[in-house]
Amino acid sequence: MGKLSLFMGLALFLSAAGFANGIGANWGTQSTHNLDPHIVVRMLRDNGIQKVKLFDADYDTLAALGRSGIEVMVGIPNDMLATLATSLKAAENWVSKNVSTHISNRNVNIRYVAVGNEPFLQTYNGSFLQTTFPALQNVQAALVRAGLNNQVRITCPQNADVYASSSDMPSGGDFRADIRQYMIQIVKFLNDNAAPFTVNIYPFISLYTDANFPVEYAFFDGNSSPITDGSATYSNMFDANYDTLVWTLQKNGFGNMPIIVGEIGWPTDGDRNANLVYAQRFNQGFMSHISGGKGTPMRPGPIDAYLFSLIDEDAKSVQPGNFERHWGIFMYDGRPKYSLNLGTTNSGIIAAKGVQYLDQKWCVMKSSAKLDDAQIAPSVSYACARADCTALGYGTSCSELDAKGNISYAFNSYYQINNQLDSACGFNGLATVVRSDPSSGTCKFNIMTRPYYGGASDWRLGYLQGPFGLALALILFMLTIQ
Ligand SMILES: *[C@@H]1O[C@H](CO)[C@@H](O)[C@H](O)[C@H]1NC(C)=O
Ligand SMILES: *[C@@H]1O[C@H](CO)[C@@H](O)[C@H](O)[C@H]1NC(C)=O
Ligand SMILES: *[C@@H]1O[C@H](CO)[C@@H](O)[C@H](O)[C@H]1NC(C)=O
Repeated sequence: MGKLSLFMGLALFLSAAGFANGIGANWGTQSTHNLDPHIVVRMLRDNGIQKVKLFDADYDTLAALGRSGIEVMVGIPNDMLATLATSLKAAENWVSKNVSTHISNRNVNIRYVAVGNEPFLQTYNGSFLQTTFPALQNVQAALVRAGLNNQVRITCPQNADVYASSSDMPSGGDFRADIRQYMIQIVKFLNDNAAPFTVNIYPFISLYTDANFPVEYAFFDGNSSPITDGSATYSNMFDANYDTLVWTLQKNGFGNMPIIVGEIGWPTDGDRNANLVYAQRFNQGFMSHISGGKGTPMRPGPIDAYLFSLIDEDAKSVQPGNFERHWGIFMYDGRPKYSLNLGTTNSGIIAAKGVQYLDQKWCVMKSSAKLDDAQIAPSVSYACARADCTALGYGTSCSELDAKGNISYAFNSYYQINNQLDSACGFNGLATVVRSDPSSGTCKFNIMTRPYYGGASDWRLGYLQGPFGLALALILFMLTIQ
């Protein structure tokens, strides 16, 4: 108790004094096998990550964050905006259940509510234009009613595509013309309520979508030819993009508005520019870039940022690209992908502790199976549609595999995601289970972690594991169906 309250006291003192600017991380949970949130919270603490940004308000996640001192930004998904926009009652319920309860019962250090996630993204075709602002108003009103508005601030994370520069220089920045009126309305409201502007900045996406984008400009090594804008020079896209926002806010009368970089990072697989070398170079470069607290030419001072992301999520939509499932600085099982010094510990990032894995076995194509078997193509499509084949293809970690390797990779992914169920390694007799690791070079045939069932308290989980677990689970199941 003593130690804990001392820790909390120190954390409060530091944040009150404005020093708690340490690095944050985005903790998403769109995975087939999420880690136990207690393991993740311990990993955050072991790595000195003091802030997390969530995309929802999952009960178990928030419960695990209780009394950790870690600052939390909870999120409201876009599909809830319409409801919250039309009903103050719904906003009050949301705040009561997903903010107030966690603060008062478990001392969760909730500091922000993110209302929507990039709701004005161009690909949404304006679907959330009408609902974002009223939802923001209702959530703020609900925070006021709950007496939490001084402790918890609203914000509305936007993609950097909400602003652009007319001159290709930061000083030419302004909000995108088609959404300008909506942005001004939101920014004014945030400003009136001492709330920050949150922006997600992605040099990787610029490189991905524009073949002519100068690669070096995405990084922080000063190797690209600098851009001069008045008295400022820019040799990396992050600074220029951030300052385009600073100019945009200033031009519209909000020059002092605090800015949070809600997402910044680099993926490691699924595209030719998504690899360990580039991701390490970008993330380490970013950490070093902001570590001195010198800020950007337009905004000297510390930068408040959340890395995107903490852990890979193998169930994310690949509609934006196959790299979507590979943004983590940690793999699906909480192992670091590359060395990264966050400046928060004496070493690089360290792995999650206490992670449990399924057995050491894999599902591969039978050696007797023929490549021209008519069942191959539909089997692979079936597996890839339900599992994760984003490490296959040009420029990926498994691009060196031959045709058979490709097929095995797909079969194994499906088998692991289905918890090594025997029936998940059938594929019309084309597949078989092996005990030796088929991984080769950079291509890893992963063993999945043991599923975390959530909700269930630890003792029940404990019983369901181990040699008697299956028998007990069966008995419980039979009792349930009677
Ligand atoms: C609280 O958040 C969860 C997770 O985002 C959501 O499913 C639920 O509907 C929210 N509760 C209320 C009362 O709105
Ligand atoms: C947006 O519009 C385009 C073209 O009209 C369409 O292809 C796409 O499916 C739409 N997206 C959404 C999210 O409505
Ligand atoms: C392996 O699969 C990927 C993705 O489906 C494909 O692009 C590649 O050509 C395949 N390689 C071989 C050797 O079949």
